[in-house]
Amino acid sequence: MISSVIGLGKLGFPFALFLASRKIKVLCYDNNPKIIDDIKKNKSPYIEPYTQKYLQKYKNNISITSDLSEIINKSDISHLVLPTPSLRNNSFSNKNIIDCLNKLAPFIKKKKRKHIINITSTVMPGSCRDVFCKILKSKGLKNNKDFIITYNPHFIAQGTTINNLENPDFVLIGADDKRGKKLVSYYNKIYKNKILISFLNTQEAEIVKISINSYITSKITFSNFISEICESEKNVDGSKVLKAIGKDHRIGNSYLAVGTKYSGPCFPRDNKALDYFVRKKIRNSLPKFVDKINNSQTSRLINIIKRVISKNKLNKINLGILGLTYKDKTSILKDSQSYDLIRTINLKKLSKINVYDNNMKPSTEYLKKYKLSYFENLKKFIINSKILLLMYPSKNFRYELLKSRNKIIIDCWNIIDEKKTKSKVYKLGKYI
Ligand SMILES: NC(=O)c1ccc[n+]([C@@H]2O[C@H](COP(=O)([O-])OP(=O)(O)OC[C@H]3O[C@@H](n4cnc5c(N)ncnc54)[C@H](O)[C@@H]3O)[C@@H](O)[C@H]2O)c1
Repeated sequence: MISSVIGLGKLGFPFALFLASRKIKVLCYDNNPKIIDDIKKNKSPYIEPYTQKYLQKYKNNISITSDLSEIINKSDISHLVLPTPSLRNNSFSNKNIIDCLNKLAPFIKKKKRKHIINITSTVMPGSCRDVFCKILKSKGLKNNKDFIITYNPHFIAQGTTINNLENPDFVLIGADDKRGKKLVSYYNKIYKNKILISFLNTQEAEIVKISINSYITSKITFSNFISEICESEKNVDGSKVLKAIGKDHRIGNSYLAVGTKYSGPCFPRDNKALDYFVRKKIRNSLPKFVDKINNSQTSRLINIIKRVISKNKLNKINLGILGLTYKDKTSILKDSQSYDLIRTINLKKLSKINVYDNNMKPSTEYLKKYKLSYFENLKKFIINSKILLLMYPSKNFRYELLKSRNKIIIDCWNIIDEKKTKSKVYKLGKYI
């Protein structure tokens, strides 16, 4: 099956490369000329690991077009990986998908064979059946004759996208007609029958997608809750407590550890979208409560910094924030744990806030707005900061922090062995 991918963003582009690596010819389309230009120059538009390597290796299976009629006529399936931004009420906007379907409809109408429209973007439950399908029908197209709509999101995390696509726990396919099973054979070929596939109707699959992320946010929030309880007890280590809890096979250790609030482009918004979906249906919304606790994590961290300052009788010191993005190997700053901390923190005992991140350099306006000093060099950053706040786990950070002397490290992720450094280490989940 010749495939096309519409929307070559942080998910769509790695997905196109993944298909290409599985010997599938992929026709690609995006309306951002800068992205197209980069790809044509064999340059990955993203810092996402493996995208550059895959582009180099599999470019012969990738072709770019700016013509949507070509997308429809030369491929059998179009994966729509378009942005579905969160609206003010926390539901997702379908606008980009609707605009795209309106453009594709005339070409699908002229085509002799049926075309599969595979929605990969995260959408609100009911969108495929009640919105997308209806739009195509309103253009005179016959459902399951001219087109099939399927829903097929991917469970990936920024920084490990290609790896997650290569090794998924399962593939989720939603379709409202048995003809949608074509997608099951499509993925069985891709994964050589070595993959679990869940075949549901589109609304069920749409609920599954946001519920998985919402479940993970609940688990992270549970970890933060236990960790906070442990901080109020002397001689208790939250990391050890969480590790032991996770040994129960019904619970498991993934996401059960000390850490900062959850953030990034998917967890918060999928959780909030589930809350929107259950509004008016269910009185007590679990996602809403989880979101509330998550938002309190920034003030929890500020209180920890205050306690460390007071315990060490410090005044007018430089606070160094290690890691600005929401995790290593990504360039997303907006709403990250550091972004929220920087926006909220206002400690009189601080002289300066230094920041370091090897994944991105914030804009001058941002640095100016919050009076931040940005360091390009990690060693200089450490020398110039008294308190070092470790905001995401990184081997590089750990390596340099272990070499530090006479500093105060606040390790939010329990990655620094206090016995191996000449600095003082405080950890989340422990009494200060
Ligand atoms: N990035 C992730 O980690 C991730 C994970 C799971 C799900 N998703 C979902 O996947 C979808 C896409 O997310 P993303 O992060 O790749 O978004 P993105 O903003 O990085 O990329 C979207 C791409 O679509 C292009 N585009 C926008 N409108 C277009 C149009 N009308 N025609 C053609 N191209 C158009 C943009 O130029 C951009 O390159 C969203 O629904 C998101 O929720 C993303």
